[in-house]
Amino acid sequence: MGKKKNMKIIIQGQNRLSGTVRTAGAKNAALPELAAILLSKGEFHFQDVPEVEDIKVMYRALQNLGAEGHFNSNSVKIKIPEVTSELVPREIVETSRASILILGPLVARNGYARVCQPGGCPIGDRKINYHLDGLSRMGAEIKEEEHHLVAKAAKQLNAIDYTFPTKSVTGTENLLMAATLAEGTTILRNCALEPEVGDLVQLLTNMGADITGKNTETLTIKGQTSLQGTSHRIIPDRIEMGTYIMVGCLGENEIIVENAVPEFVQSLLNILEQIGCYVTVKNDTIKVTANGNLKPVSVETLPYPDYPTDLQAQLTTLLTQVNGISKIKENIFNNRFQHTRELKKMGAAIDVDGDIAIIRGKTPLSGQTIRATDLRASAALVMGGLIAEGETVMDNAYQLFRGYENMPLKLQQLGADIKNIEE
Ligand code: EPU
Repeated sequence: MGKKKNMKIIIQGQNRLSGTVRTAGAKNAALPELAAILLSKGEFHFQDVPEVEDIKVMYRALQNLGAEGHFNSNSVKIKIPEVTSELVPREIVETSRASILILGPLVARNGYARVCQPGGCPIGDRKINYHLDGLSRMGAEIKEEEHHLVAKAAKQLNAIDYTFPTKSVTGTENLLMAATLAEGTTILRNCALEPEVGDLVQLLTNMGADITGKNTETLTIKGQTSLQGTSHRIIPDRIEMGTYIMVGCLGENEIIVENAVPEFVQSLLNILEQIGCYVTVKNDTIKVTANGNLKPVSVETLPYPDYPTDLQAQLTTLLTQVNGISKIKENIFNNRFQHTRELKKMGAAIDVDGDIAIIRGKTPLSGQTIRATDLRASAALVMGGLIAEGETVMDNAYQLFRGYENMPLKLQQLGADIKNIEE
């Protein structure tokens, strides 16, 4: 992992991009779904697993707990007949949210789990109080010990009736997984509606879980004594899809995104229509282009089906190329405008005041040495590099590879001059 942290991406900007790009499987569906194997002794076969760093981290964490399997060509075959270690150590998961997603299923199966405090992107406070509150109410005793979370349950977890105070994606996923092996019927209210939660419900159902309310705010889970292994294809990644859609709106690009689910990115498509991009949806393909004469917009990030925080940074870059004053309000995370500092170095006119960014366009961008602070910021900066004049060097490119499969290669195939190098 250390090696990847010294990766740089180098872009010679202003090539016109055109062609087709295929969306990979969703990182944020694959993460909880891999953790869900802990609920069963059976064998699993996952397809369309994105080969990105955060998923490799989850895979290694499961191996460390005793899982056996293979991971290649986007396919994972895996089973964990016995849990041979209850510890998920820091060196395996420090950069990702894997450990918190392991906590629920592991304590549900095993009565004990010890995971290091979750990491992930430094995009603001990433609270986990709902996860811990829900698991405690299910009967797990949770303590914090030297940067680790330790959960113990004397017996099978018990069912709860729990209302999430606000929507949480991994919070919903964690309690949902734990509830499948709890005694009695759990009701989870105010659940997150992200498609990744629905895909997890589908996987758990195929494993033998009894869940009603898929894709609604209330999930009812009748606990089982055991669950079985199954096969599952991961849904397409709506954030990767949305990122390439926005690449298609830059300059004179024209991009067709395949393996797309238009419904997953409807909030983005609505905004693109407002600003004047041309979007054509046909079955599972989305074609996008623009004529460079775009109008400003006001957007705020909210839970699904509204505009996702994970596409906020990329939209910021696009809005630097729009004529007039645009506004973005970030409601989900309190430190998610770090890309604006780097975009300003490239020539963007952006003012950030608390949770609001004002973007004055259209400004030409010029190639600079910039630093990726987090995963989605790194995609926004790559987009900046693609339209900038001259050479852009992005340091800390490991962030990009945490969540985007082969992005330099996919962009090369569309005509970009981009490469990654290791220092
Ligand atoms: N929150 C709490 N308490 C909790 C949980 C969440 O107050 O116990 C708050 C958070 O502080 C935040 C809001 O609720 O303000 C939403 O957080 P959520 O729990 O939904 O985020 P998450 O589950 O940690 C997932 C994705 C993120 C994505 C967010 C929001 C995964 C593995 N991660 O995080 O993805 O930004 O939902 O949609 O699913 C990414 O892929 O780049 C990424 C950061």
